[in-house]
Amino acid sequence: MVTANAPSRLVQHYVDNFRRLPWRSPPGARAPDPYVVWLSEIMLQQTTVATVMPRFERFLERWPSVDALARAKDEDILSEWAGLGYYARARNLIACAREVAARGAFPKTAAELRRLPGIGAYTSAAIAAIAFAEKAPAVDTNVERVIARLNGMAQPARTEVERHLLDMMDDQHPGDVVQALMDLGATVCRPKRPQCAECPLNGDCAAHTTGRPEAFPTPRQRKPRPHRYGIALWIERDGHVWLVRRPANGLLGGMAALPGGDWTEAPQQSRHSLASVRHVFTHFSLDLAVEARTEPDADGWWQPLDAIESAGLPTLYMKAARQMLLGKQSLAA
Ligand code: ADE
Repeated sequence: MVTANAPSRLVQHYVDNFRRLPWRSPPGARAPDPYVVWLSEIMLQQTTVATVMPRFERFLERWPSVDALARAKDEDILSEWAGLGYYARARNLIACAREVAARGAFPKTAAELRRLPGIGAYTSAAIAAIAFAEKAPAVDTNVERVIARLNGMAQPARTEVERHLLDMMDDQHPGDVVQALMDLGATVCRPKRPQCAECPLNGDCAAHTTGRPEAFPTPRQRKPRPHRYGIALWIERDGHVWLVRRPANGLLGGMAALPGGDWTEAPQQSRHSLASVRHVFTHFSLDLAVEARTEPDADGWWQPLDAIESAGLPTLYMKAARQMLLGKQSLAA
């Protein structure tokens, strides 16, 4: 049973163990700048804390305020995002920054935040709780797992989880409760082999009592991921390679890329591929063959090969470019 002082034990554990992350204020200190909370929450969607940390710091140094970000060029922001994946996030980030700059400040409630581009149920609640101390139930996968185990929920309904979270926010700082649950989920109440002996809530935890805490919540069935094929073109001249910008909408929208045709479900005949990469996106995996050409046939630019790492290529194309450059090195050796 979840006892009345469980939330205060949870928060005390957070005070004693919280992860010092660059977007956080220590528990009890003044709330961080909403811009910083927003930026970190967008970056942390589908991306790990370890990956986000250095990227977040670089981004914040380059654009220290929402006004600075709103004034930046789209291409510069998309390039800075390169390698983080889920590029719709970056496009929404740009749109959101401009809307917030135009209205003068971030709105202060979850309901209003949710109307901004790229901000859904979880993110609006997280920003409202952490930056504005609103009792807003921010349920991400870590928070959901901790609450599901604590209450013995095998297939937790979102509204039920939110209700339990709101109960835990009574008399506590809402931002500390949410981040305490995130940290507990990331470090103690992990999906596999949870460290129940370390947990401040083990005496309250229904899943712990069963002896099989890992069984909560039951894993969701994943759909099989389809596969696709594509061909990219390597057009090289005088130490430069020809790059293009992908159309603004769709996968990798607005990002720098190697030129090439559509990706298809059927394998494509590659006449002479010089490199091939396999890349896994959320909804499909892709085999991309790379062929040489001599003439550009679409709008683009010559990117110096010795500055390929700063071209803003997403990981798929960066892998292809690295293979091409490695292949040349071994030919020259
Ligand atoms: N994941 C999403 N938001 C986070 C936060 N504020 N701290 C740690 N991990 C997170």
